Amino acid sequence: MNRTPCKGGCSLCLSTERIPIDPSSLKPHILSAENVLDSFHCRNVGVNKFILEEARPFQEERLGTTYLFSYGGKVIAFATLMMAEIKRELMSDEDRLEIGKDCYPALQIGQLAVDVRYEGNGVGTYVLDWCIGLAIRTSDRIACRFIVLDAEKDAAGFYEKYGFNMLKRQDRRTHPTMYIDILPALKK
Ligand SMILES: CC(C)(COP(=O)(O)OP(=O)(O)OC[C@H]1O[C@@H](n2cnc3c(N)ncnc32)[C@H](O)[C@@H]1OP(=O)(O)O)[C@@H](O)C(=O)NCCC(=O)NCCS
Repeated sequence: MNRTPCKGGCSLCLSTERIPIDPSSLKPHILSAENVLDSFHCRNVGVNKFILEEARPFQEERLGTTYLFSYGGKVIAFATLMMAEIKRELMSDEDRLEIGKDCYPALQIGQLAVDVRYEGNGVGTYVLDWCIGLAIRTSDRIACRFIVLDAEKDAAGFYEKYGFNMLKRQDRRTHPTMYIDILPALKK
């Protein structure tokens, strides 16, 4: 597993001390003006910048809705969601649906991160499960068939382990696009 520190030798990222928690105690809430985000620190410097500086304007412009997962009053994980579509021609043959449609409706995970101090507790998996649950509930009213995301290279293994597939044709993407079909979970 590749768990590199956010910046060269960031002591927080390099520390092996982890705080054990039960992810099921995490309750998501939508980012609001009152939320204090300064203490959040994941191992991706770009993602830290996003939550501090960009998440609020994105939300105001309706470009991404951020859900925060707090523990003991502190934000320890978040996911930013938006609508998207996935092109049939870019998928592997076996994942293409029989129905003749060029694009499939999807929920995009624009960002997803866990504070380094809480990694390895299943929090990332819990947040993904929750996003899929939201997509399933929403799909009753607005169709949604896939979850799609552009993975950070260091995190692609995490999504692969969960069951995401790589888009067959990545063209010149720097962040590989990955997707998962939510219909099997919906039928459970
Ligand atoms: C990637 C990230 C979300 C994982 O969060 P986490 O809470 O530690 O993940 P979990 O504890 O749920 O891990 C689930 C499984 O995935 C594995 N895993 C976690 N991170 C991994 C990684 N980067 N590469 C490969 N496997 C990984 C775990 O070992 C675990 O495996 P197991 O079930 O066999 O024990 C977190 O490290 C993170 O926020 N990274 C920085 C931000 C980032 O890159 N986000 C992705 C943006 S696309």
